[in-house]
Formats: sequence, C-alpha cells, structure tokens
Amino acid sequence: MTNKTKLLLDKDSVIGPVGKRLYSTFVEHLGRCVYEGIYEPGHPCADKDGFREDVRELVRELHFGAIRYPGGNFVSGYNWRDGIGPLNERPVRLDYAWSSIEPNQIGINEFCDYAKSVGSEVMYAVNIGTGTPQEAGYVVEYANFPQGTFFSDLRVKNGHKEPHNIKLWCIGNEMDGPWQICHLDARDYGKKALETAKIMKWADPSIELAVCGSASSLQPTFPEWDRIVLEYTYDQVDYLSLHRYYENFGNELDFLASYHEMDKFIRSVVATADYVKAVKRSKKTVMLSFDEWNIWYQTKTQLKPWKFAPHILEDNYSLLDALAFGGLLCTLINNADRVRIGCLAQMVNVIAPIFTEKGGKAIRQTIFYPFAMAAKNCTGDALRVRGKTLVLESNAYGPVSALPCAATWDAERGEISVICVNISAENQTVEFDMRSFGRVKPLEHTVIHGGDLSAVNTLTDPDRVKPESRICHGAVTDTPEVELEPMSFHLFKFAVAV
Ligand code: AHR
Repeated sequence: MTNKTKLLLDKDSVIGPVGKRLYSTFVEHLGRCVYEGIYEPGHPCADKDGFREDVRELVRELHFGAIRYPGGNFVSGYNWRDGIGPLNERPVRLDYAWSSIEPNQIGINEFCDYAKSVGSEVMYAVNIGTGTPQEAGYVVEYANFPQGTFFSDLRVKNGHKEPHNIKLWCIGNEMDGPWQICHLDARDYGKKALETAKIMKWADPSIELAVCGSASSLQPTFPEWDRIVLEYTYDQVDYLSLHRYYENFGNELDFLASYHEMDKFIRSVVATADYVKAVKRSKKTVMLSFDEWNIWYQTKTQLKPWKFAPHILEDNYSLLDALAFGGLLCTLINNADRVRIGCLAQMVNVIAPIFTEKGGKAIRQTIFYPFAMAAKNCTGDALRVRGKTLVLESNAYGPVSALPCAATWDAERGEISVICVNISAENQTVEFDMRSFGRVKPLEHTVIHGGDLSAVNTLTDPDRVKPESRICHGAVTDTPEVELEPMSFHLFKFAVAV
C-alpha cells in the first residue's frame, strides 16, 4: 500500500536560523570518551600530543559547531586547576560522578586546541556542585583574559600566549538532579547561578551563559525548577538549558514517536521562559540550549568502579535507533526559532556516533549518518513544512505523524534540503510543493534503510548500516515527487533553477 502526501515548502515561511551551534556535541570525562576515545597516546594513529587522527577525521565529518566540555555529571566534582600545568604533575583523582579514576591528562588547554583542530568552538561548563562562584570567575580569567593577571599569566606560562576566547559557558550541569554532586534545590541554585553569572560576566562581558533548566521533561520538578531558576537569573543569562534522552522500552512506534515528545518538551520550556519574560517585563528573549540529547539505553547502564576509562554507556545503535534519532533531528530544526544550541551527547564511545577499539579501529555507528547529513546540508533558515500526513496512533502520545520531516533554505547556496523519516510500515509518496521557489533541480537523494531494523555496525561489520546515494535524474519542476519505502530516513537536496 502507498500513501500519498503533499507537503508545502514556502520560502517565506521561515521558522528561524539554523546556525552551526544547532549541530553541536558533548565530550565528558566519562568512560572512554576522552581516554581511548579522542586521546590515546601510543595508538598507531596518535599525533604528537596523543590525539587519534583516525577519530579526528570522523569528528570532522560531523561538522560540529560547538563541543560542550568537560561534563556532565563529572563537572560537579571537577577542579579545573587539576587539568593544567605539566602532565606528570597533575593529580590522579577519584571521580565521584562515574566512580572512575581520573588522571587529568587532558584539561582546558589541550581540549581547546583539540576543538580548534576540528573546526568547533568550546562550550565550557563550570562546577556549581563542589565549585564556587569565584572559581568560575577564575576559569573565565584563565581562558579569556589576555594577560597581566595571575590566572591569565598562568595560561601564558602553560604555553598558551593567546587567550582561548571561549564564548559559550554553562553554569553547572543538571543541578536539579538528586544524582548530581552537591545537588541544590531551585532557589539555592538560582541564587548561586546568579552570583556566578555576575562574576563570570565581570571577568569577560562578551561571554554567553546557559543556566541549568530541567535535566529531563520527566523530572518531578519540571517546569517549576525552570521558572524559579529563571526568575533569579533572567537578566544575566542568554540560554536556558534542557536535556532529554530517549530509549526503546519495547513499543516500536512509541520509540519512533520520541520526536513528538521532544517537541512538546521544547514548547513547554519556551512557554516557561516566556512567562518569566512577561513577569519581568523584559525586552530580552532567552533562547534554549538543548545541550544533551540522544538515544540512551539508560535502564541497561551499569557502572564499573573504580577503573580508568571503563567501558560504560557504550550503546551500540541499530537502524531503528537511527530512525528515531532522525525524528529528533527534525524536531530540533523545526524549533530553530528558540533552540539555538543542540549538543548530541556524546561524541565518542559514550552514547556516541563514533566507536573506537583500543589500539585499533574507529567506526561510524548508525546514528552517525543522519547527523552528518543534517549538519552538512540543513543550513540557512528552517522552513515550516505544512501538509496532512499519514497519522499513526501511538500508545504513549496518541496520534502522531508517520512522516517527521524538516526543511531548510540556504539562500547563499541557493539550496533547499529536506529530511523525511518514514516511520510507518507503508510506502509513502510525497509531493513537495515548492512553487514559491520557482522551479527546482534535484541534486541529491541519500537514504538510510534496510530490512533488518535491529542491524548495527560493529568492529567486525562496520558498514552493515550505511547511507545509499540514489541517482537524481528527476526533472526540473516546482512540484517534485519522491518515494519513501517503509522505515527509512531520507535527505533530499534541490537547487533553485535559474
Ligand atoms: O551524558 C551522560 C550524562 O547524562 C551526563 O553526565 C549528565 O549530564 C546526564 O545525566
């Protein structure tokens, strides 16, 4: 059976700009994300500083705008001073967040250099658990002040004459979570975040700050936490952060419809932020930083204390996961008016698109591909896609569209990109009404599909799931028509014909 849908893509129906930061990621000192992930001295592909070139190449393919660092839960017990100075003098510590051994061989200087080498900016999180507002000011001074003060001179002494100029900063991580080291209630966090923000902006007024919103839409304190925190910090901060991970609990459609829940979550956070804006009579609009999102089989996570670089949170993603992930990407793009930062958590090994073998290979997981395709192609402005699609009845969310999709128009490149995910068991024919662009020429059609939804990429079979490029010999038209097989992810690219 084939279902036919007409989708309207109107050049003037702009949602908002899709900047590089919407395609960001996250590196935490957790498991094998840093050690044996990006950094493995002695590996045949390691550069002179111990960073793996094979991993770096894959990271570049993902076109990340920013990389959030160094945590995560880890940051709430982390002293940034442990990660500077000569490597052989750095302390080995117990990391309480993940019950691991932290040798501090990578710190702020090494990480900023690494991010630069892959073309990304750093989004640095300060410690609001065991940390103080003053230490947060010191790390801003160390990173961004030119020279002539204690901490900026220390940076120069440590070999970094030029400041790192980190623009994006997080005021802690998931402080609403009882699992957080030195968790606070909303009022205590709101007050501490405000004082921290003041000091950080005094140290460098050009920085942008993200304050902790809720760690998930499932938190019992959501959205009160967000309201209270913003009531303290609204004037000082630029972004409210939100996190959400999805998991397949056995109902396939509910899982594939995760994109719908993510959208609902974003709208509730926007409403909460705008409520505080109204209370404050503020002219400023706080944007959202979705600085942790992904699929995470959290119920299967088990820690392995007290090890160095333990194999933890190493989810192996299937084709089904890649389809659910594609829907989440669409939701982020469709909320580009308010979500300005989106961090795929995390980058390597830990719930990540890249997986490494100690001393061996680095491979692309299934979720690598939809992300790489979106980050490379879906640029410019997000367009609102209108049309009546096939609807499926989910258990968890009621009726949901069987065709999550998103579109962008990059006027500079003269290109329109469209992502469509067919999450139904039916073939779908889609006609794009692009008359507002005049006539368009099909440039690219890339598909991720396959009969076996449980298929995964492994070290021994790294290309089991990978995209297929289809030849585009479609005519120049204003209403291109495409076919989507059941359970498939598609990227279409069109050029405006002159
Ligand atoms: O990304 C894994 C963990 O998930 C992070 O450390 C934490 O912020 C979140 O709960």
